[in-house]
Amino acid sequence: MYQLPLHQFESQPTPFYYYDLDLLADTLNKVKQLIAGKPYVVHYAVKANSNPVILQQIAASGLGADLVSGGEMKVALQAGFHARHMMFAGVGKTDEEINLGLDNDIACFNVESVPELEVINSLADARGRVARIAIRVNPDIDAHTHSYITTGTADNKFGIDIESLPQVVELAHSLPNIELLGLHFHLGSQITLMEPYRMLCERINSLLDYFESRNVRFKMIDVGGGLGVDYVHPDASPMAPFEAFFDTFNQHLHLREGQQLHFELGRAIVAQCGSLITRVVFVKENRNKRFVILDAGMTQLVRPALYQAHHLVQNLSAPVDAPTATYDVVGPVCESSDVFAHDEVLPVTSRGNIIAIRSAGAYGEVMASQYNMRPLPPALFSR
Ligand code: LLP
Repeated sequence: MYQLPLHQFESQPTPFYYYDLDLLADTLNKVKQLIAGKPYVVHYAVKANSNPVILQQIAASGLGADLVSGGEMKVALQAGFHARHMMFAGVGKTDEEINLGLDNDIACFNVESVPELEVINSLADARGRVARIAIRVNPDIDAHTHSYITTGTADNKFGIDIESLPQVVELAHSLPNIELLGLHFHLGSQITLMEPYRMLCERINSLLDYFESRNVRFKMIDVGGGLGVDYVHPDASPMAPFEAFFDTFNQHLHLREGQQLHFELGRAIVAQCGSLITRVVFVKENRNKRFVILDAGMTQLVRPALYQAHHLVQNLSAPVDAPTATYDVVGPVCESSDVFAHDEVLPVTSRGNIIAIRSAGAYGEVMASQYNMRPLPPALFSR
């Protein structure tokens, strides 16, 4: 259904990112359908992909924006996201970034520490404003994902400990330029099992019971993002398991009267609609290995080098019935970690073939670098 148009790629200089905007539209529709009629609000985590065309389409679909920097706030505003649908997270917000959020009157600051809470209060005071905030709580749940993308365990830099939450809530209530809306959680990223989310629901239920018994009711609960995608079978699973995800919260989280549940999904929205399109520069054989050397490397897509992530590698030029061979698929960058895949079975591949590295729509283009003075990759779109 979602085909990669090889004929369009052959005449293009490579490497570049290719985005299927129909798949993105279908994904956004699916999310909207599943949350319709529920007190659920979905924010798109801009960090996953901040290409302006992608952002405009997501903003037009009505999702909010989840931000981690002033730079993201600016591009999200330009793309048409409304400031009143923006949440701003991050452990190290600078005064300048906080003021930008206050001046635009964003929906909520997700606050990660007591010093940050105090600074937001005084900056809001100086501007004669009241800052809406949520407190980010570290739920101490292991999401069983790669250690570099786990965020919800106790020895992580994110959020405040559950034990200190009552005092921080009390402090937030006492500050005149702070309006406490609720609590924020985030477990980590590329989470494919629902069990960690079910545990999060239980953790939140007991926190809500605790606070209700002390006459504190929150207007909103934000459970973050992290829903994973199928990197092995992107064609069979072009969409993340959204039904199972929303069902888990529907069944296990006991929202109180008037409470809204917020989500911050990044990868699940954009990963499958993007591919990195690259050409084979050389095929070379050493004593023990055969290498496919591409014109894209870790500078275009760093996930394999940084997280040992695997993306499906497809030779689009080879005929379907071509014989196969085993290759290491590597980039041109002067680093031995610049490898997309080890011992990958591909159709027999030759110089000039077009290769697609799939599921690269999230944390691909945004994490590209100019290391080795390589240019940043351009983007092409299906329409
Ligand atoms: N909310 C918060 C507070 C986050 O820290 C993140 C991601 C998200 C939402 C969105 O998570 P998602 O739904 O995309 O999993 N560069 C890594 C992923 C880093 C994720 C950082 N935080 C990768 O390429 O796997």
